[in-house]
Amino acid sequence: MDATIEVRGLRKRFGPTVAVDDLSFTAAPGQVTGFVGPNGAGKSTTMRVIMGLDRPDAGTALVGGKPYRSLRTPLCRLGAMLDASAVHPARRARDHLRWLAHANGLPVRRVDEVIELAGLGGAARRRASGFSLGMRQRLGIAAALLGDPPALMFDEPVNGLDPEGIAWMRRLLRSLAAEGRAVLVSSHLMSELEGGADHLVVIGRGRLIADTAVQDLLDAASAGRVELRTARREEAMTVLARAGATATATGRDAVTVTGLPAERIIALLTEAGVAFSGIAEHRATLEEAYMELTKDAVEFQAVTGREAP
Ligand SMILES: Nc1ncnc2c1ncn2[C@@H]1O[C@H](COP(=O)(O)OP(=O)(O)OP(=O)(O)O)[C@@H](O)[C@H]1O
Ligand SMILES: [Mg+2]
Repeated sequence: MDATIEVRGLRKRFGPTVAVDDLSFTAAPGQVTGFVGPNGAGKSTTMRVIMGLDRPDAGTALVGGKPYRSLRTPLCRLGAMLDASAVHPARRARDHLRWLAHANGLPVRRVDEVIELAGLGGAARRRASGFSLGMRQRLGIAAALLGDPPALMFDEPVNGLDPEGIAWMRRLLRSLAAEGRAVLVSSHLMSELEGGADHLVVIGRGRLIADTAVQDLLDAASAGRVELRTARREEAMTVLARAGATATATGRDAVTVTGLPAERIIALLTEAGVAFSGIAEHRATLEEAYMELTKDAVEFQAVTGREAP
């Protein structure tokens, strides 16, 4: 069964706001695709359009080559958790899942399987109104897995989870992809995606900013930067600047250097008699790479410092 989630030329406008603007990307089977972008970038809107909850003004969103609304057994094609609070509060978790299974012609034994998979265990017989955010997230995940679908989509699933829950979610997403499923997951936690996602789709103001393998993005962001440790920071910076490098102080005894390879930096400092205690190629974090990519696309930027009078 084709699991690919594919968006082509998608456009969605709410009054004067263009929420999604000519967006195209693919979430491929066997991969966790991180879907990221600043607040208001259009991630949730895109996911709602994929699920047929919002109608696009232009473009298409396909699941396994078909629009979601045309699928005869949608729960068995695409499992999704877009809003973890979408559960009747008086209903017990297990009953909610049984009702979903029944309404979709799925075997009831699958309910106990997904309760197990989602780690709901003891909470399964409790009413949803008494659930913590993390338990509601797990119930949402259980519902998404009910139809054993080849494609999955989660909108900020780790939002509100404790560290143990976040680690669990990362393992779950990885194992779902390892089974050959396409997994599209939005998140603001870059540190989680760094270890959890294979591919990254970055959007800002509704438009595509990057569509890249996580490793390629990290490599590109790391390239050409050298971290230097020296107690004689100012002298080192002078020597390196004179040789044409850009040297920036990044700590009391730390300097980040661009424009010269590490070997050349070592030679210059040795020649000038400037001692240093460490030198290493910089490894960018996904957070750094992401910040660099999206710095122009942040809609609601924090105001830092004092405004000019
Ligand atoms: N139903 C709606 N009516 C009007 N405007 C909307 C509606 N839904 C979304 N928008 C607007 O569309 C834009 C994209 O919103 P969306 O929720 O898709 O962003 P997001 O990337 O999911 O953001 P976040 O990271 O905060 O969840 C925003 O400017 C938002 O205000
Ligand atoms: Mg959102």
